[in-house]
Amino acid sequence: MKILVINGPNLNMLGIREPDIYGRTTYADLCRLIEQHADEIGVQVELYQSNHEGDLVDKIQEAYGNTDGIVINPGAYTHTSVAILDALKAVAIPAVEVHISDVDAREEFRQISYVRLACCATISGHGLDGYMEAMDLLRERNAS
Ligand code: DQA
Repeated sequence: MKILVINGPNLNMLGIREPDIYGRTTYADLCRLIEQHADEIGVQVELYQSNHEGDLVDKIQEAYGNTDGIVINPGAYTHTSVAILDALKAVAIPAVEVHISDVDAREEFRQISYVRLACCATISGHGLDGYMEAMDLLRERNAS
C-alpha cells in the first residue's frame, strides 16, 4: 500500500510558526515521524509540501493510478480551495483531512472546510499524532 502525505502552505514552518498552537517540532522532524510510522505499519509513504495551490492540485492529480490513500493537511487552503476539493474528487483516492490544531475551536473562518467534502475522515486537534492516526485509518480501510 502507498500513502501520499501532503502538507500545504506554512507547514514547512512547523517549529517556528506560532509554537503555542503548532508546537516546537519541525517539519523535518514530522517527516521522520511519518516515515518511521510507515515502516512500523508496513506501508510505503511519499511526503510532499508546497505553499502553492496549483502545485498541490498537480500533486493530487499525479497520484492517480499509483497511490492508495492520501493524508492531507491543506493548511489555510482548507478554508478556501475548491480546486483542491475538485482534485481530490477527480482522483477519488481515499483521503483523510488532518489539522494539527482544533480548527473547530478557533476563528469562525477556520470552521469551513471545502476539502472535507472529499475526505472519508477528519482528524483535528490531535497535534502531529493526527498524521499517524490518519495513516492507520487508511491502512485499516485498505485492508478491509
Ligand atoms: C492547520 C489549520 C489551518 O487553519 C491553518 O491555516 C494552518 C494549519 C492545522 O494544521 O491546524 O496552516 O491546517
